[in-house]
Amino acid sequence: MISGNTKICALIGDPVAHSMSPAMHNAAFKKLGLDYAYLPFLVKPEHLAKAVEGLRALNISGFNVTIPHKIAILPLLDILDPLVQKIGAVNTVVNIDGKLVGYNTDAGGFYQALLQHGIKPENKRITVLGAGGASRAISYILAKNGARLTILNRKEQLAKAENIAALIKKDFDIIVKVLELDRLAAELQNADILVNATSVGMSPHSEKSIVPAEILHNIPVIVDVVYNPVETRLLKEAKAAGVKTVSGLDMLVWQGALAFEKWTGQKAPLETMKREAEKMLEAHEN
Ligand code: ATR
Repeated sequence: MISGNTKICALIGDPVAHSMSPAMHNAAFKKLGLDYAYLPFLVKPEHLAKAVEGLRALNISGFNVTIPHKIAILPLLDILDPLVQKIGAVNTVVNIDGKLVGYNTDAGGFYQALLQHGIKPENKRITVLGAGGASRAISYILAKNGARLTILNRKEQLAKAENIAALIKKDFDIIVKVLELDRLAAELQNADILVNATSVGMSPHSEKSIVPAEILHNIPVIVDVVYNPVETRLLKEAKAAGVKTVSGLDMLVWQGALAFEKWTGQKAPLETMKREAEKMLEAHEN
């Protein structure tokens, strides 16, 4: 029941209609008996600054930030977590005594999902596909945790991958290889882990995969950041080839769990959150 004491969290983005965050967080609050509620707000880019001022004025406890505001919100916040300063994107804001503090739990969520599956990036040769926002967060956190990285992107946009490599090299004394996507087959012969950080395979184009099935069998682990569908064509074909797989759903749930923990100070009920996300994804697929 919402009362005068209820603490409010929110999501701002455009679109927000299909977001799984309201269901995940409200179920988690309920599970732990916390007097919190989570609401989605559709915010157009031209209204972002006013929306953030509004959330501040309303003394909201915290909020998530999604497409297209993850980068634009940075100058509107009071304090940025050091990781945010590096990767330049915020997905979680916490109101600490009236100061809005920006965090990125996408990166940490990815890392926690790996650990949960018993995968430690340290000294592993990891091939990351894509050089957008997801790749930036993932590549940085992997490098920070001692991975040996190769980033592949389409030829026309190779500069984006070079930028990520430069960012990493500034902070860590490691070599990051950057290659065009058409070098994938050769590169995979030496990879311990492959991460798809592109949007290829996402619904409604779930018939697509960025990796030809015949080159999958050499790779010990494949991670897909795409969570809709939960089992992408890439992951289906990887499983059939005997490869260990990690779905983007685990990353989604973990980024939510880390945000939840920052807002409430409580350990997030992961299973509850995952079940809610799965329910929504199943309903979407049917
Ligand atoms: P996100 O924030 O989810 O990372 P994004 O910043 O739009 O989204 O990045 C999407 C990534 O998927 C990009 O690296 C994009 O490649 P380009 O940098 O060449 O644009 C990649 N991507 C999308 N569609 C692709 C396709 N059909 N083939 C290869 N890469 C693709």
